[in-house]
Amino acid sequence: MENTAVESVRFSEVVSALSYALDITEGQPAGHAARTCMIGMHIARELDLSSELRSALFYGLLLKDLGCSSNASKVCTLFGADDRAAKRDLKTTDWCSTVDSACYIARNVRPEGSLMQKARRFVSVAVGGQSAARELVQIRCDRGANIARSLLLPELTAEAIQSLDEHWDGRGHPQGLAGEAIPLLSRIMGLAQTVEVFWHRDGVNAACEMALDRSGTWFDPELVELFVHLRNNRELAADMVSADPGQAVAAMEPIGLELRADEAALDRLAMGFSEVVDAKSPWTFQHSRGVADLSEGIAGVLGMDGRRLRRLRRAALLHG
Ligand SMILES: [Fe+2]
Repeated sequence: MENTAVESVRFSEVVSALSYALDITEGQPAGHAARTCMIGMHIARELDLSSELRSALFYGLLLKDLGCSSNASKVCTLFGADDRAAKRDLKTTDWCSTVDSACYIARNVRPEGSLMQKARRFVSVAVGGQSAARELVQIRCDRGANIARSLLLPELTAEAIQSLDEHWDGRGHPQGLAGEAIPLLSRIMGLAQTVEVFWHRDGVNAACEMALDRSGTWFDPELVELFVHLRNNRELAADMVSADPGQAVAAMEPIGLELRADEAALDRLAMGFSEVVDAKSPWTFQHSRGVADLSEGIAGVLGMDGRRLRRLRRAALLHG
């Protein structure tokens, strides 16, 4: 292993593998980000986007949830519940609808609590309503965009992550952008991630029904039309049932613009994902970096240096 040429590793393969960790923080089934990426890249192909845009989109789709862990403890405290269950359920809820939102809150507050505890929590979440939601999305989007920047990904990728939860009708978060003021890549990512959840759980027809239902409110109508047109695309249908979506999607990176996972890029990825891990709880703030510093210090005393020391630091950063 020591002599494996790291230059032969594609950045897309490492990122698609790590995207499974983001699926966990978001409470989604393994492969959610990878399948979202497949859907988004098929839409991009139909739109005939430039290679540069598709490259930025590719990493945006895989890393859209980089900031997800950062609001985990707030969600957990707000709902008095497992943040992953609350987040999973949110993905299938039309939270712009008052009735759907109320049902969502009722389902997710204090699942183990008494009726009285549930009622109290229901009121506090409902009163916090939109401003609490905006704050949660803001934390997640800022964090995600900043980690993408620290990985030296294109600024378009960071911007796309920043505006992931904006809605076509201006009722999304955090800025309430509307229509074409929302970056195109964010509009594609927002549609693709929701389509993936419904498609994977209930099939392509359910995904189309949801997209049409939210066309013009959540989603850009032109993109919805395009996706509905794609429903019979055999290649996409085959991709969606791939046994190893992470591996399959890694090959969908735009040709000619493939990023290489050189040593410095791998260091940045390890650092970036250590921040994802540590953000999960206030108790683990900078924990991974501390473990890495201590490990490196001990190994240095033991005489370890060069590539081995560098790999040890990465392993320590990713131990969680
Ligand atoms: Fe640890």
